[in-house]
Amino acid sequence: MSIFQRDILAGRVALVTGGGTGICKGIARAYAAHGARVCLVSRKADALRAAAEELAAETGGEVMTATADVREPSELDAAVAACQGRMGGIDILVNGAAGNFLAPAAALSPGGFRAVIDIDLRGTFHACKAAFEPLCRSGRGLILNISATLQYHGTPLMAHAAAAKAGVDSLTRTLAVEWARFGMRAVAIAPGPIGDTEGMRRLAPGEIGKRLVEHIPLGRFGTVAEVADLAVFLASDAARYITGAIYVIDGGQSVAAPSRLQE
Ligand code: COA
Repeated sequence: MSIFQRDILAGRVALVTGGGTGICKGIARAYAAHGARVCLVSRKADALRAAAEELAAETGGEVMTATADVREPSELDAAVAACQGRMGGIDILVNGAAGNFLAPAAALSPGGFRAVIDIDLRGTFHACKAAFEPLCRSGRGLILNISATLQYHGTPLMAHAAAAKAGVDSLTRTLAVEWARFGMRAVAIAPGPIGDTEGMRRLAPGEIGKRLVEHIPLGRFGTVAEVADLAVFLASDAARYITGAIYVIDGGQSVAAPSRLQE
């Protein structure tokens, strides 16, 4: 049961990178459930197909797939062309494709640092460029970047991902300003710990996860559905005057002072 009207995104087409799994699959599900037609993009064709079938069956919406590695601009160009060919345009670009792993900076190889910057930051830039024309033609184009909260503090073992997401935040603001004259908005969602994702299972397993919850004022991890609700709002006409903003959704974790945690 959604708090939004069922057809709040009717008539829109959303291209979602990283849409085959995790938070972005949840956003794609919510978009399809609210009337948007959706194109899922990622490297893994099998996972994409399975996700598309699942979301179409569950929502009754139209869901297509396009295989692309966001590190390759030409593959994104082809994905955008395929989406336009079948859906007739693109109104919403969700940049969610990301890579991450825990690594101490002193042991992180140049290739490891580059891989995450290439996927998260350069991949976001490539996708924005690839979708620029259809987003302009839309007249109400939206770029929704999936950021993070680890770059707002010095987060150990995350030098690569934090640097990449800081770049994504910066890109969000710049494009919001540069591309506003094309009727386009650019916003970001910065999720904190979201419990029901592969990322959390890998990056904060078992005891680490339990200790992490103690630092969240709302006392629990978030859910993919909660992030998806925010993504629906931001894509809707209710958010038509919002651009350049980065929405932290983390149960208060990133603003909690140590004294608050000791109460
Ligand atoms: N720890 C340290 N370095 C790692 C690493 C790890 N767990 N995983 C990858 N790297 C390094 C590799 O050593 C390589 O660097 P090198 O060339 O200097 O040796 C570089 O990253 C690229 O590795 P590769 O295996 O070619 O990865 P890829 O380019 O196919 O994919 C990732 C990179 C980040 C996507 C990959 O690590 C991955 O699949 N991660 C899990 C999925 C994921 O991150 N999902 C998102 C959840 S938030």
